[in-house]
Formats: sequence, C-alpha cells, structure tokens
Amino acid sequence: MSLSVALGKIVLPNPILVASGTFGYAKEAARLLELSRLGGIVPKTITVAPRSGNKPPRTAETTAGLLNAIGLDNDGLDEFVEKKLPYLRTVGSPIIVSIAAKKLEECKIFAERLNDEPGITAIELNVSCPNVSGGVDFGIDPVLCEKMTGELRKFLTLPFSVKLSPNVTKIADIAKAAEAGGADMISAINTCYGLAVDWRKRKPRLGNGCGGFSGPAIKPIALRCVWQIAKAVKLPIIGIGGISCVDDVMDFLVAGASAVQIGTANFFNPNVTTEILNDLPNVMEQEGIKDLSEIIGTLEL
Ligand SMILES: Cc1cc2nc3c(=O)[nH]c(=O)nc-3n(C[C@H](O)[C@H](O)[C@H](O)COP(=O)(O)O)c2cc1C
Repeated sequence: MSLSVALGKIVLPNPILVASGTFGYAKEAARLLELSRLGGIVPKTITVAPRSGNKPPRTAETTAGLLNAIGLDNDGLDEFVEKKLPYLRTVGSPIIVSIAAKKLEECKIFAERLNDEPGITAIELNVSCPNVSGGVDFGIDPVLCEKMTGELRKFLTLPFSVKLSPNVTKIADIAKAAEAGGADMISAINTCYGLAVDWRKRKPRLGNGCGGFSGPAIKPIALRCVWQIAKAVKLPIIGIGGISCVDDVMDFLVAGASAVQIGTANFFNPNVTTEILNDLPNVMEQEGIKDLSEIIGTLEL
C-alpha cells in the first residue's frame, strides 16, 4: 500500500498537509505532533515587506466556524529566509512556501530570493486572502490572475500552486486562468468572506469589519469548488476547507483533489493530522485501495 501522491512535478509522502496561517512556521506545533509525518507544511503567507496585520480583535468564533481577519501579519521575505526557513528545513517534511504579492513586480523579487534556497519543495501563491486590500484582485479577476501567474512563472524555477478564493462567481474560470498562466497546481479554497456582529454594540465582532470564514461548515463549499475545478483544468488540486477527519479527506480525493490541507481543525484538535495519518491506511485497507491514485477524481453524478 502506498500513501504517496504525485502532484505534477512533485511527489509528496502522503496527502495530508497543513494549511497556511493555521500552523505558524511549524516550530509552534513541534511539541504537539511529529512534524516529519506530515505530507507537507505550508507556513503562514509571507509578503515582500513585513506587515503588521489588521487591528484586533482578529478572530471571532461563530456558531459553526471561525471568522478571521489577521491581515497577513508577517515579518517579510528576508526575515522568513533568515529566521524561519532554517528551522523548516530540519523538520523532514516537504515545505511549500506561501507568498502573496500586491504588485506584479513582487513576483520577480520572491523568485530571485527563493529559487535557490534549499529545502523548498514548492511555492503556493496566495491570491485569495480576503483580509487585505489589493492582493485579492488577482484572485477574483481571471485576466489579472493569469497575469500574476504568468509573471511568477517567468522567474520562478520551483513548481507552484495558485491558491484560489471561493468568493467568486465562477471559480473554474479563475482556475483556467492560473493554468493558462503556467501554474503547476491549484490549491482551493481560502476562506469564505463573512461577517460576525455584536448587535448590542452595533459593531462587527472583528476589528476589520468583515473576515474569512473557515472550519467544518465550509466543507461543502470547498468540495463544490474542487469538483468544479477538477472538471475545468488538468492541473493537480490541493483541497482545503473544513477537513477534520479521514472521511473528509477521502471526500476531497474522490471530488478531484490529489492532496489536502488541514486548517482550522488544527486549532480545535491539535492531534487532527496525527489521527488522520493513523486512520488513512486503515480506511484504504478496508476499501481495498492500494494506491490513492485509484480514487482521485472518481466522483460521478
Ligand atoms: C487564522 C487563520 C489564518 C489564515 N491565514 C492564511 C494565510 O496567511 N494564507 C493563506 O493562504 N490562507 C490562510 N488561511 C486560510 C487557510 O489556509 C484555509 O485555506 C482556510 O481556513 C480553509 O480551510 P479550513 O476550513 O480547514 O480552515 C487562514 C485561516 C485561518 C483560520
């Protein structure tokens, strides 16, 4: 039995990754689980220059999920390479560095700084953060998405995924644009744009007003997106959104994802990836699955 999965040019030891922004830079989670077992780690998105993020409160728990407006708080590209990457290189699982660019010119800066850094398996281009102005335009307009993807392709020698937003009318069109621009993979989805209200104060519960909704409640939206993308493009897909158990993982694989990322579930169950990694071989054995490629994209109407 093999847990490994191929995503175009890269092969991951298993399909269970952790999602950007929900796992810090991995060091924070090192005492909670065996990092080397993960199929991949996507650290918090970095921007070229440091960003201090949005004003607090930045998270709000709602009845059925988490709303956040962190605002891409990060120390910037140089600090990441100098202070975070050295540790990430030692963990023993594939590292997919998440980047967000506000301007096309920043793609070249990222590529030139990251291309030759050892220990990076791939890049994830985040064009889908709902909590910053500017950057998200590249994820909601197919023309801009193709432009930014093409710009990164021009300079980046590493394979890269484009992470898409569900907050669009036709996600398949954005995925096609990323494919046309030269992306190697698609990651879907980022958070769903939402609002939590404290009606007594007549105020939003987040300092930024609206935010991104995540957790088990968004799984059907994410599955729908993955399925629509799988029908529209040939690229491998990394499914994200509301995954908290092995059956969720299998749902995403059948819908067309070749791997998945676990996000919000890491917060309410730090053992979630360990549990899923323990359960996956058992489920495969029960169902007579020898290789996960047998079930990827097998969903029929
Ligand atoms: C607190 C928080 C911070 C996040 N930060 C990022 C980020 O920096 N970059 C990114 O691409 N996605 C970010 N996300 C989105 C997640 O990576 C993921 O796409 C989304 O939460 C859906 O998956 P989930 O339902 O499993 O959490 C963040 C999500 C949360 C909850």
